[in-house]
Amino acid sequence: MCGIVGVLGTHEVAPLLVEALKRLEYRGYDSAGIATVDNGKLDRRRAVGKLVNLSDELVHNPLAGKSGIGHTRWATHGAPSVTNAHPHQAGPVAVVHNGIIENFRELRADLATKGYKFVTETDTETVALLAQSFVDAGHAPVEAANATIDALEGAFALCFLFDGEDDLLIAARKGSPLAIGHGDGEMYVGSDAIALAPMTDQVTYLDEGDRAILTRTSLAIFDATGTQVQRVRREIKLDATRIEKAGHKHFMSKEIAEQPTVISDALSYYLSSDGAGINLPEDGIDFTAFDRIVMVACGTAFFACFTAKYWLEQIARIPVEVDVASEFRYREAPIAPRTLAIFVSQSGETADTLAALRYVAGKADKIVTITNSAESSMARESDLSLPILAGVEVGVASTKAFTCQLTVLLALAIEAASQRGVLARDEVKTHLSALRALPGLINAALDLRDDIDAISQELAEATDVLFLGRGAIYPIALEGALKLKEISYIHAEGYASGELKHGPIALVDTHTPIIVFAPRDKLFDKTVSNMQEVMARGGKVILVSDKTGIADAGDDVWRTIEMPRVSDAIAPILYALPAQLIAYHTAVAKGTDVDQPRNLAKSVTVE
Ligand code: F6R
Repeated sequence: MCGIVGVLGTHEVAPLLVEALKRLEYRGYDSAGIATVDNGKLDRRRAVGKLVNLSDELVHNPLAGKSGIGHTRWATHGAPSVTNAHPHQAGPVAVVHNGIIENFRELRADLATKGYKFVTETDTETVALLAQSFVDAGHAPVEAANATIDALEGAFALCFLFDGEDDLLIAARKGSPLAIGHGDGEMYVGSDAIALAPMTDQVTYLDEGDRAILTRTSLAIFDATGTQVQRVRREIKLDATRIEKAGHKHFMSKEIAEQPTVISDALSYYLSSDGAGINLPEDGIDFTAFDRIVMVACGTAFFACFTAKYWLEQIARIPVEVDVASEFRYREAPIAPRTLAIFVSQSGETADTLAALRYVAGKADKIVTITNSAESSMARESDLSLPILAGVEVGVASTKAFTCQLTVLLALAIEAASQRGVLARDEVKTHLSALRALPGLINAALDLRDDIDAISQELAEATDVLFLGRGAIYPIALEGALKLKEISYIHAEGYASGELKHGPIALVDTHTPIIVFAPRDKLFDKTVSNMQEVMARGGKVILVSDKTGIADAGDDVWRTIEMPRVSDAIAPILYALPAQLIAYHTAVAKGTDVDQPRNLAKSVTVE
């Protein structure tokens, strides 16, 4: 969270910085700002709220200069305000920061005793003041930045700009990713390569602990021990057009619509061309070498793990423990011998999941990350990284990444079952051909947009909504509730349908819509019984099922959404579609900010 950019350019940089920040706005949008050096003079502009406010500010108060840094903020310390917005400047130093400086109170107290004055509530201002204190003590900019970074504890990505230095940027990475872009007589810094896509496709990723000193014609990288190192420069295939809305009103709508395509891409990557098996990169996974699997993730990615628990246990007969990363990382879970650890993360940078991964390093026999970001910290710190191939996901609410995660996880469960001799060859083939049918089925589910839109107009009036599911559909109910509250701000909860009568049924009244995901599987009759219990108490049931399911459920349901018939294993992936569409259309009906819902950010790189 928080996006950082830096440019040593050959033209005016303010428009480039704003354009790059636009591409990082998904990381946070509480405030934004830029600083430049023009004829040796450091100056800055900042604005609270969305980036458009900074653009307006720059129209009234333009900022000249061919070198600069920029920031889009997700507030951690200090409310969103102009004063607390980055870049933070102290005398001759401006700095942008992503992460948290854990020892900022101690540093602040020490600087205060030396007479330095604080005007913000942020941890980042401490970094700028500390650097100023080193400059005041006679250090040159590079030494001042180094001494500052040495004193910091916590997780951060930083970029420094100095008054009087229009050909110098200093960047540092500890816990939060940073990419360096190489241009033609220009150099760039970005929180990720997407920010740099219009300017360059030549990127060097900093490793953990690295510091970089950039001029327009040079890049010197030093590792955590201070030794100068070479990091690989690579060509990044980032089609800038892929982060346009392509005619859709919102990125979320575009990303929902892309699912047949990106799932096809994932299937082509993982399914062997003869239809008989799964291809995994590198040495793959020997599922016979493990007695159990531990799966850890956050938010929507956690619900992907939770769904996979059902698949891996039912299809491959291997015990799976799942946990949210923020709990797992501190609960000191014993990791038994013959454990496979799987981490799922769209960004590959989520702080809690990364910390959980580091906790199991050296304890689990193998660490696998399933991610949308092949260059991410998690991918690089794992024994094996499996791409989900969803393409850039800009909407803060995850959609296509979720279904791609599920697709890869189901493929893994089938592979595990095959290797462990649980499924015979022809059963594997049957599962794989069901998987191959998925893009077509998702296309059919997308045709339900208009029906779901109509129901969503009514849902938009609700203050509380319940989602029910059973078996592997239960995590989809949880995901449906998360998606709805995230973007429509309607209170929603997901429950295992059999659990309702143990408490939550007290919430049901004639105003409560209850969305029941119930494919016509072996648990269907049980789900219908739970649904009847709800309807008997006046609950307004929206049944999401296939034709036979809807016919068998009787006439008393309030609304129905008729899904294509689907095999049991595939159903969770397909039923994610109505969950997404319900949230999307309800949010649009309510007029909320669908792509950038309040208080959220896409990549949560703080605890
Ligand atoms: C919800 C959502 C979040 C993320 C979570 C983990 O729509 O997107 O719950 O799933 O923050 O993010 P990643 O997958 O990047 O680790």
